[in-house]
Amino acid sequence: MKNVALITGADRGLGLALTAGLISKGWKVFAGQYMPEWPELAELSAKYPSIEMIPLDVGSDESMRHSAQMVSGLTDHLDLLINNAGVTSPAMYRDIRESQDYTEMCRLYNINALGPLRTVEAFLPLLESSPVKRLCFISSEAGSINACDRQSWYGYCMSKAALNMEVKILFNRLRPQGYTFRLYHPGWLRSYMGGTKNTEADLEPRDAAALALAYFLRERAADTNNRRIDENRLVLRDWRGREMPW
Ligand SMILES: NC(=O)c1ccc[n+]([C@@H]2O[C@H](COP(=O)([O-])OP(=O)(O)OC[C@H]3O[C@@H](n4cnc5c(N)ncnc54)[C@H](OP(=O)(O)O)[C@@H]3O)[C@@H](O)[C@H]2O)c1
Repeated sequence: MKNVALITGADRGLGLALTAGLISKGWKVFAGQYMPEWPELAELSAKYPSIEMIPLDVGSDESMRHSAQMVSGLTDHLDLLINNAGVTSPAMYRDIRESQDYTEMCRLYNINALGPLRTVEAFLPLLESSPVKRLCFISSEAGSINACDRQSWYGYCMSKAALNMEVKILFNRLRPQGYTFRLYHPGWLRSYMGGTKNTEADLEPRDAAALALAYFLRERAADTNNRRIDENRLVLRDWRGREMPW
């Protein structure tokens, strides 16, 4: 039986590269499509029948319900869930002495923090049937409270810190039932978070995806002592393999 994954926010950036990376390793991928007008995912899926595009807005209960129904009709299990979809906004740069955009902050919270929770809830029945049961979350250094030296970016940083807490609670509940967790900062990416491709950042999405997948797919037994993954201790790890402070 093929390994089966679901990735949210797979239209471009890291999500698209993770989709391509898993396909090259022989996985079947349900790729969450949020931007039907953006052609890259459709082009990739035309090349690889193992990609199934699933319309999915992680910020919407209704969209989540529909996509879970659709995926349940196409597979009886999921081995790997990668919660990747995320957004930021230019409004996050506002200083505390400027008026804050609370509506925009709520949008970010709904997608970045509640989106992964909605996704886990919706797809848990399919993960239950897998012997692998791996839950991956693309967080950010921006969600680390101890590492924070920013003086703005409230909505984005707070949404990722909330995601980290959410993953801890999920870990407490689901780890005893055999689920394994990867909470991850993927590095500064040449992706589209600002609306256009960032050409100044450190990593191309393809390289970032290769690093992420090496960590997401690695089994405990395959680890060296230095980079040991202790499945019973939740860690926030970055793309260089370093553990980050909470
Ligand atoms: N870029 C970085 O340097 C960086 C650093 C640390 C962590 N991250 C995290 O990495 C993840 C991937 O980001 P990226 O850099 O690859 O950004 P990206 O290129 O913008 O890709 C994210 C994808 O998710 C989509 N999306 C937005 N709202 C969605 C929703 N409600 N439901 C489903 N999909 C939605 C985006 O569509 P739109 O383009 O229409 O919004 C986009 O296609 C995010 O969680 C981000 O927070 C990024």
